[in-house]
Amino acid sequence: MPRISIIGCGFVADLYLRSLQSFPDISVAGVYDHDPERLRVFCTHWNLPSCDTLDALLAATPLDGLVLNLTNPGAHYDINKACLLAGRHVYSEKPLAMELDQAKDLHRIAGETGLMLASAPCSVLGEAAQTLGHAIRNQVCGTPRLVYAELDDGFIPQAAYKKWLSESGAPWPYQDEFEVGCTLEHAGYYLTWLISWFGPVRSVTAASAECLPDKTGTGPTAPDFATATLFFDSGMVARLTCSILAPHDHSIRVIGDKGVLKLNRAWDNDAPVRYARRLTLRRRLMEHPLPRRIRLPGPTHPKVKRWGAAAMNFMLGPAEMLDALAKGRPSRLSADFALHMTEVTLAMSSAGDSGGAVKMTTTCERMEPMVWAQ
Ligand SMILES: NC(=O)c1ccc[n+]([C@@H]2O[C@H](COP(=O)([O-])OP(=O)(O)OC[C@H]3O[C@@H](n4cnc5c(N)ncnc54)[C@H](O)[C@@H]3O)[C@@H](O)[C@H]2O)c1
Repeated sequence: MPRISIIGCGFVADLYLRSLQSFPDISVAGVYDHDPERLRVFCTHWNLPSCDTLDALLAATPLDGLVLNLTNPGAHYDINKACLLAGRHVYSEKPLAMELDQAKDLHRIAGETGLMLASAPCSVLGEAAQTLGHAIRNQVCGTPRLVYAELDDGFIPQAAYKKWLSESGAPWPYQDEFEVGCTLEHAGYYLTWLISWFGPVRSVTAASAECLPDKTGTGPTAPDFATATLFFDSGMVARLTCSILAPHDHSIRVIGDKGVLKLNRAWDNDAPVRYARRLTLRRRLMEHPLPRRIRLPGPTHPKVKRWGAAAMNFMLGPAEMLDALAKGRPSRLSADFALHMTEVTLAMSSAGDSGGAVKMTTTCERMEPMVWAQ
C-alpha cells in the first residue's frame, strides 16, 4: 500500500484528508506538527498516527513513500530540505520556497539524490485543466494566440476571515496569507496549467503593488495585486492577474483564430469548459452567444465535494507521484516543473512598480497529459 506522511496539520491539511478518502489505497504513515495541540486535535479527528518530532516522522516514512509538506510558506525550504536530505521524496505545498536560490538548492539536492520533488497546486492534473488542455491540443479554437487568466478573490480584507475554520477546527491563517501575498499563494493555480500546455516561460513583464496598506493593523504586508504578461518559448503570450481586492473572477480564456475556450472556476476540478466560435452576423464580429460544452469521452478521476472556496482533489498530485514511483516512470509533477513555476511566480510577486522584462533562468518540459485525456 503506498504511504504518505504529513508535516503541518493546519487549515489545508484537512482538505488533503478529505481528498484522501477518494484514494482508499493510500495510507498515512505518520503526522507531525510543531504545535503539539494542533497535532493532537488533527490526529484525533482523522484517527491518524502522530509523531513527536520531525525525525520521528521521517523515520516513519518508508523510502518509497512520500512526505507532504503542508506547513506555512516560510517553513517550506527548511522542511523540504530536511526531508530530501533524509532521503525522502517530497510533495510541497506552494511555494516550493520563498526565494529563488532556495528553490534552486532544493532542485539541485533532488537531482543529486534522485529523489522526487514537486510543488502544489495539482489542479493541473484535474479534469477541468485536462479538458481545456485537450481542446487546445486539438485546436478546437484554432491556433491559440493569447490567454487571459484571472485569479481575483474578491475584497478579502473585508471578508469574515477570522471566522473561517477548517473541518478539524484550524483557523484560516490570515496574517500569514496577507504576509505571503496572494500571488505567491495563488498564481500557481493558472501558471501550472499554462506551463503544462505551452511549455516554459521565456520572460515575465510584471507589476505588483500593495493597494490596501495595513490590512491587519500590523504594518505593510505583501502585494495584494499583481499582473504579468508571460512570453513563452513556444511563442504563446498570456496575461495573468492575481488580487484579493478586485471582484471574484477565476476565469481563464484561451483566444484562438477560430474562437474562445473558456472556464470560469479555477478551483473546481469539475468546472465546465466551453467553446464559443467567432462569427460575423451581418457586419458585426462576435463570439457565439451559446458556447458549447467540451467534454472528455471517458471517466477521469475521483472528485471531492466543495469545502469553502475549493472543489479540488488535493491528493491528485501525491497520487500521481506515488503512481510514478510504483511504475518507475517520471512524474508529471517534476522538480523542473516546480522550480520553473516558482521562478515565474516570484518574478510576478516581487515585480513592484519598476517594470521591465525579467528573463527566466530555469526551464521545463511541457507536461504529458493524463492517460484519460490523451
Ligand atoms: N488555507 C488554504 O485555504 C490553503 C489552500 C491551499 C493551499 N494552502 C497552502 O498550504 C500551506 C499551509 O497553509 P495552511 O492554511 O494550512 O496554514 P496553517 O497555518 O493553517 O497550517 C500550517 C501548519 O503547519 C505547522 N507548521 C509550521 N511550521 C512548521 C514546522 N517548521 N514544523 C512543523 N509544523 C509546522 C503549523 O503549526 C500549522 O499547524 C501553505 O503553503 C498554503 O499556501 C493553503
